[in-house]
Amino acid sequence: MKITIFGTGYVGLVTGACLADVGHDVLCMDVDADKVARLEAGDIPIYEPGLEELVTHNTASGRLSFTTDAARAVEFGTLQFIAVGTPPDEDGSADLQYVLSVARTIGQHMNDFKVVIDKSTVPVGTADRVRHTIGEVLEQRGASLEFEVCSNPEFLKEGAAIEDFSHGARIVVGTDSERVRELMRDCYGPYIRLQEKLMFMDVRAAELTKYAANAMLATKISFMNEIANLAERLGADVEQVRRGIGSDPRIGYHFIYPGCGYGGSCFPKDVRALTRTAGDVDYQAELLSAVEGVNQRQKQTLFDKLERAFDGDLAGRTIAVWGLSFKPNTDDMRDAPSRLLMESLWRVGARVRAFDPEAMDECRRIYGQRDDLTLAETREAAVEGADALVICTEWKVFRMVDFDWLKDQLGMPVVVDGRNLYNPETVRRAGLMYYAVGRGDSL
Ligand code: UGA
Repeated sequence: MKITIFGTGYVGLVTGACLADVGHDVLCMDVDADKVARLEAGDIPIYEPGLEELVTHNTASGRLSFTTDAARAVEFGTLQFIAVGTPPDEDGSADLQYVLSVARTIGQHMNDFKVVIDKSTVPVGTADRVRHTIGEVLEQRGASLEFEVCSNPEFLKEGAAIEDFSHGARIVVGTDSERVRELMRDCYGPYIRLQEKLMFMDVRAAELTKYAANAMLATKISFMNEIANLAERLGADVEQVRRGIGSDPRIGYHFIYPGCGYGGSCFPKDVRALTRTAGDVDYQAELLSAVEGVNQRQKQTLFDKLERAFDGDLAGRTIAVWGLSFKPNTDDMRDAPSRLLMESLWRVGARVRAFDPEAMDECRRIYGQRDDLTLAETREAAVEGADALVICTEWKVFRMVDFDWLKDQLGMPVVVDGRNLYNPETVRRAGLMYYAVGRGDSL
């Protein structure tokens, strides 16, 4: 099949590369000429395991190509995926200007039947707006052409996107057209295991499914963080509680790891956007607001714990930070707990020595050169001369630590672990003060 993808961000690029890899002819369009040139040269702007190989391989085979030429892009595919960004507006709702601009582009250049597919995470009702926008442009052109708009939200996790694409739990397609159903079956057909996971539903149900899934997962995390905070104050170990409740299949073990709060480009943005959507239809989504509130507070706990460990005196201190990305296997620092921590530390006059296996360039890009930030080459170099250590991301490289060595490195024997990586007894035996999340160690 011939497929066009608008937007070569995370979702667009993964979708394009994966669909090309199973034999489709894919043309990815982006308005950013530099980005397109880089992609053509096999230079992938984001870190995602396996993506570079997939893009290079499929570009070389001629099945995957890139363009800035909108007319050519619209002409190319029967399927037109919209995978452009939907950044949050000031009020938290998703900004649809890029999605609607692609819709206008499609309306301007199409000359035959097209299926327009919303892949970006967009509020309920967006497919109707895309349909309306294309219809308007066609009317202005005096063109009477058939097209369909459907919703096909993605459920990829950063760091495991390629695996998720081929082994995901479901493919949701919102449409009321049999013709679209057939084309989408053909599109995902080569993924044999996915065929039976194709789920057709109404357009609005598909749009809401995306938000509901992310909101549910975020709710599980905030719930568990709330229990962790309680456990901390009650002298209970939340890790034991987690095992205790996860064993019930109705609850399950997934997404009940307490920590320093969820981050990334999806959960925070989507929970806020859904809360906002609810407001638009005069419904006060109290649970969603609480999920967001608990998460904000949770991100702050890393700093609060440090501050209490240092009796409020963090000015002039040097704090080592292990992990900058919002989770392992990505260089993404959007809404990452590490950012709130570092910014809070800088505000009180402390210095940061940070190490992350992938996100150092991203950190440099965000914060630039500053006297109170040192990006260390290794985890060892990050703790050299530091007063305390905070762990923000559970990268594998942080799992095994010689705690006697660590104690010798730190000016104050303080370890704040935002990811519950270690056995508290082992750490404390080395003479370190260990503050994890919900492990009976309320300061
Ligand atoms: C999330 C969803 O998991 C994907 O299904 C969805 O497609 C994607 O958003 C999206 O909307 O595009 P992602 O943001 O890549 O994927 O990351 P997750 O692996 O879900 O983790 C999100 C955050 O939750 C991370 O900060 C992680 O540390 C935190 N988390 C996760 C916890 O604190 N505890 C847990 O038990 C699980």
